[in-house]
Amino acid sequence: MDGFKQEIVKALKKELKISEQEISDLMEMPSNPELGDYAFPCFRLAGVIKKAPNKIASELQEKVKAKNVVEVRAAGPYLNFFVDKKELAKATIEKILAEKKNFGRGSSSKKIVIEYPSPNTNKPLHLGHVRNMLLGKSVSRLLEFQGNKVIQVNLNNDRGVHICKAMLAYKLWGEGRKPEKKPDHFVGDFYVLYAKKAEEKPELEEEVQTMLRKWEKGDKETIELWKKISGWAKKGFEETYEKFGIKFEKTYNESEHYKEGKQIVKAAFKDGMLKKDKEGNIIAELKKKGLPDKVLLRKDGTSVYMTQDINLAKIKYKDFRMDRSIYVVGTEQILHFKQLLKIIDILKIKAGELYHLAYGMVYLPEGRMKSREGKVVDADDLVEGIIALAKDEVKKRHELKDGELDERAKQIGMGALNFFILKYDTPKDFIFNPEESIALEGETGPYIQYAHARICSVFKKHGKSPAKIDYEKLKEKEEIMLLKILGRFPHAAKEAAEQYKPQIVSRYLLELSQQFNEFYHQHQVLKAEDSLRDTRLALLEAVRQVIRNGLYLLSIDAPEEM
Ligand code: ARG
Repeated sequence: MDGFKQEIVKALKKELKISEQEISDLMEMPSNPELGDYAFPCFRLAGVIKKAPNKIASELQEKVKAKNVVEVRAAGPYLNFFVDKKELAKATIEKILAEKKNFGRGSSSKKIVIEYPSPNTNKPLHLGHVRNMLLGKSVSRLLEFQGNKVIQVNLNNDRGVHICKAMLAYKLWGEGRKPEKKPDHFVGDFYVLYAKKAEEKPELEEEVQTMLRKWEKGDKETIELWKKISGWAKKGFEETYEKFGIKFEKTYNESEHYKEGKQIVKAAFKDGMLKKDKEGNIIAELKKKGLPDKVLLRKDGTSVYMTQDINLAKIKYKDFRMDRSIYVVGTEQILHFKQLLKIIDILKIKAGELYHLAYGMVYLPEGRMKSREGKVVDADDLVEGIIALAKDEVKKRHELKDGELDERAKQIGMGALNFFILKYDTPKDFIFNPEESIALEGETGPYIQYAHARICSVFKKHGKSPAKIDYEKLKEKEEIMLLKILGRFPHAAKEAAEQYKPQIVSRYLLELSQQFNEFYHQHQVLKAEDSLRDTRLALLEAVRQVIRNGLYLLSIDAPEEM
């Protein structure tokens, strides 16, 4: 909570019989400056005090005196507070410039494990994984920024029917070739080839099942083949993770933990926690808990996707003893995770507090950036495409040396992709439009990066640090608005972390950048008289810092020139 608000809350508390927390939660920050810098609505009090809200407000107006508040004005049922603008400017700017990249940090201290993007090892990462990775990385940063210890982990679902399909296709038609392209793409081609061939020869399905049984029995030749195929897929993923700048403290492999999952289920059945259905499958009875029953072990002894998740939850906890365990997985698995939570409960497994961070689908506009098959879009192709677009844009504006051009294109292209994807509410589906994302105007990453670069260029032109600062000089409406938005950054960062919603930071940055542009359009900086110029420069330095801090939370670079 900012210092001004704190003082007002304290002053109100003296007059009211509700807690400081309640007062603080009720306080608003009106967007119209005529309604004060802070406002306190009195409706809720009417129940407690038994007076009309308007009356309560006008009575409080006389009594409440808060530090740095120059006027308290009742307006209908609201009590509006006007703070000393000089103090507002001084407190806000000095705090930001002193705390720099730590401005907005919180003081939580939870241990949180976050798992993403957890691919299957039979094909390359696609557009959905892009959203997954960007979300996982940003939410990790948001939580860390609040002071939590965050541990990023990954899971490879590297066993099962899907991977046997790629293996079988390679065995039948691969002629022992080594990858002549990025290895996960090479594996993906065989998975696609299998699907094609299986259309004409449905009997291939039987061969896949045979292969799976052989794999489970540890047949040497099958294991050799599996090592090759899943190894290639994983190697390819590593390259993609690097492009996205993500690293994991630990990577789990389904092949290494699914067997213990079966043991847990068998033991729990013996203990009477689980039942058998009519066919003889071991199931968790969830109907009473409002969910469909779930098969955990088929009657032939084979496990399902859920079986491995039971043991995974357990070993994660053994590894990290975390307070909370987050899974970044698409909305299509909402039921799966609801069931997992209940099953962990039934089996009395210690796993920390589980949370499914569910994200929606991403589509591409028809006919653009198609993949080879024209349907799914590979993460690698997408990245390449957006960086190429950014490169064309940069070339129009500047003449740069090759290395510099590539670096700039990467910063802007990845920034565009990142921002566009993170500005939507997490569970919602949307269409990713590459051209729109890269534009300097509109709700885009480059729009924010450009505001940052504009401030950098003012400083470059001036060449000196602000020296004659006089906070009294900041009186314009656009300046006051900027100050107030700056002061809200810690709150936005906190809310975003608590709700796992990077888009709160995206929206915040748009508002801040728009307000900066508005200010810059209306007022002179370098041409203003010395002391006004320097004070405005200090304001701009604070804006630049907060843009950087916000972009960091979205893992977007802030180039000094666009
Ligand atoms: N590999 C799975 C998929 O692609 C996602 C795994 C998510 N994580 C988990 N612990 N179940 O659908």
